[in-house]
Parts: sequence; C-alpha cells; structure tokens
Amino acid sequence: MARRRKIYEGKAKVLFEGPEPGTIVQYFKDDATAFNNQKKGTISGKGVLNNRISEFLMTRLTEIGIPTHFIRALNMREQLVRQVEIIPIEVVVRNVAAGSMSKRLGIPEGTPLPRSIVEYYYKNDELGDPMVSEEHITAFGWASTQDIDDMVHLTLRVNDYLSGLFLGVGLKLIDFKLEFGRVWEDEEMRIVLADEISPDNCRLWDVKTNQKLDKDRFRQDLGGVQEAYQEVARRLGVLPVEV
Ligand code: C5P
Repeated sequence: MARRRKIYEGKAKVLFEGPEPGTIVQYFKDDATAFNNQKKGTISGKGVLNNRISEFLMTRLTEIGIPTHFIRALNMREQLVRQVEIIPIEVVVRNVAAGSMSKRLGIPEGTPLPRSIVEYYYKNDELGDPMVSEEHITAFGWASTQDIDDMVHLTLRVNDYLSGLFLGVGLKLIDFKLEFGRVWEDEEMRIVLADEISPDNCRLWDVKTNQKLDKDRFRQDLGGVQEAYQEVARRLGVLPVEV
C-alpha cells in the first residue's frame, strides 16, 4: 500500500493526507485517555466501533441538512473527511447534569436541566481545555460572533435530532461535545461539523436502568467498557459483526 503522510496524531485518532486535495483520512485508534491524559488505556475494538457509530450519526445528520466533514467510510477503522480548519473551541451541550458540571456547580448527577445548556472550552491540552465565554472567544480571535452563532445553531439542531434518535433506541443523551471547522465553498467560508460523534464524546444512559454506556465506564473504572460501546453500536444497528 502507498505510504501516506501523517498530518496529526491525537489521543484517539490519526489524520493522514487524503487521496484527493482537500481530503483527509481519519483513522480511529483503540487508545483511550481521560482527565487530560492523566489516565491512559486501550479499549479493544473501540476504533472500529467509533468509526461505525460516527459514520452512522454523521450520515443521519447530513440527511437533515447539517453540514459535516464526513465524506465516506473507507474501511473498518478509516473514513474519508473534508479537510477543514479546526476552530479551537469545543462546544458542549448538556441536557442532564453530569461530569464536570455536577462537580463544579454541585448539581447531583442525573438532575434534568431546566433547558439545554451550551458551554465552550478552549481546545488546549497544556491548559487542560479550560472553559471560556463568548467574550474570550471573540476577544482572542478564536472565532467570530457569526461563527459562534452558527456553531450554537447547529449544535442545538444536532442535540434535538440526536436526543430523539437515541431515545428511539432506549438511550438518554445526557451531554456531548462537538467540534467545528471552516471550509471554503463557492467563494464563501462555511462552518461544518467535524471530528466524531461517538461514546467517546457523548454521555449515553440506558433509559430504564440509567446504566452508563459511554466513556465514563473507562473514566470511572466501571468495567465493561468494550461491551458498552458494542451495545450502543448494536442498538443503532451498526455493530460490525454480531457478538
Ligand atoms: O467532562 P465534562 O462533563 O465537561 O464533559 C461533557 C461532555 O463532553 C461529555 O459527554 C464528554 O464525553 C465530552 N467531552 C469530550 N472531550 C473533552 C471534554 C468533554 O468529548 N475534552
């Protein structure tokens, strides 16, 4: 096979130069990290499952008119995506209190929020992805007010759609993180959904039992991590091989 140029290696994915200009190959690894790299491990088969789950969710979102970087699946661990200029902001939406919000504000995990809450974090490993406000984002030039409006609008649509989609398979979408990128299209700059959507960056609880079926099983040493990711894939009907 032809050697490909590695562009970037992150915690859970590797990006390679794509076959055509403006494309990237996104390779999903089994590596898992948590608490800003303080906890490291491997979840066997995670890359395959996240590749499938993210492909499925990005495709459904494209169908409802959400622009994404996803082009097509290439194989079990790789997908072809559009090259974008990543906006260094992680957009988190929360429907139910959990994780850092519960810790920071003392709201018990599992408390439904009066409305969906959007938060921004500055993507910076050295600083541990600190939470920032719209003021910081615009003042430091990480994104414009228009970019933020576009990202929030898209994020709320994604939340609406995915909350319903997951509920249909007996899962509650507690919260999730999205990343966006800029692309030039028809002489205009557009914002598209990038990165991945998977149990690595969503909290998903079983509707009946509140069992956690996401990366919190790894973060909190709950065991059954691989099985949880498989269960999400199974419910979405995208389990690569019936297990
Ligand atoms: O840890 P916290 O409660 O702030 O996480 C909120 C949501 O964002 C969770 O679904 C988590 O998986 C996701 N997240 C992420 N990447 C980060 C931080 C949070 O995917 N760097």
